[in-house]
Amino acid sequence: MSESMAPATADRVLDLLREPPGTPDVSAGYLDLLGPSAKAPPSLAQSVMESTFLPRIYEKVWRPVGFNLAKGWPLGPDTAEEHAMARDWLGLSHPGYAARPPATVLDVACGPGNVTRALAAGIGPEGLVVGLDASESMLARAVADTDPGADVRYVRGDAVDLPFRDGAFDAVCCFGALYLFDDPWTAVDGMTRVLKPGGRLVILTSRRPAPLPSARLGGELLRRATGFTVFGDREVTEALADRGFTAIRQRRYPLMQVVGGSRSPR
Ligand SMILES: C[S@@+](CC[C@H](N)C(=O)[O-])C[C@H]1O[C@@H](n2cnc3c(N)ncnc32)[C@H](O)[C@@H]1O
Repeated sequence: MSESMAPATADRVLDLLREPPGTPDVSAGYLDLLGPSAKAPPSLAQSVMESTFLPRIYEKVWRPVGFNLAKGWPLGPDTAEEHAMARDWLGLSHPGYAARPPATVLDVACGPGNVTRALAAGIGPEGLVVGLDASESMLARAVADTDPGADVRYVRGDAVDLPFRDGAFDAVCCFGALYLFDDPWTAVDGMTRVLKPGGRLVILTSRRPAPLPSARLGGELLRRATGFTVFGDREVTEALADRGFTAIRQRRYPLMQVVGGSRSPR
């Protein structure tokens, strides 16, 4: 077991799993549930995420430039405002606030842990944020950039087949990744399943700016060529409504949208 994942904390993550492994592999500083036999990345977009170069420039260059433009910079929220929105919508607190909930939070497709750490700034001492990603290079960066004393742990797993128990989390966040999944709606099913009744979900994903058939056709061609899905304005909100979410809300930006809601209390 590596120093960056102490036994007690590994146990906290293992407690959240549907089928905890008999011999957990935490040798890289995260709990690896995929191992060397993981499938090759299926799309061009996911292959880029698996590269060793992207994690090095992701948080400082790729993420702020690409995402802020897609959110309509300078009118849309910058990275700090986006993180504050995520904490608000998930019912968490903020850095510097005394009262922080002891929430158990899942960050789906956490990449290098940029959003994971922002969520951790809004939880109390008994809380835990688990970042899950499939990419070894992204997770290596996440572990390196996260204070080992923080209430944050990382898991290598598949976002479309979440390895966690039903109702394990108070809040689930999935930023900048739903459009990469080969089956986004099965992923949303899983996020719903691992939420406690009444727990909150927030998703930041792509947005098709125009409802025109030509825009839809362009989006379909993009998906086939690269694996990148562009979602219409009602697709994600309706997916949450279909799964019994309440208090559904949405912010629309030129090329992105944020959608949130509360899982039905029953
Ligand atoms: C653009 S990054 C997003 C990072 C961070 N959440 C953010 O908002 O900046 C997308 C991440 O999704 C991960 N990813 C894509 N498909 C995945 C899957 N099926 N399971 C787990 N992670 C996946 C990639 O490895 C990559 O790290």
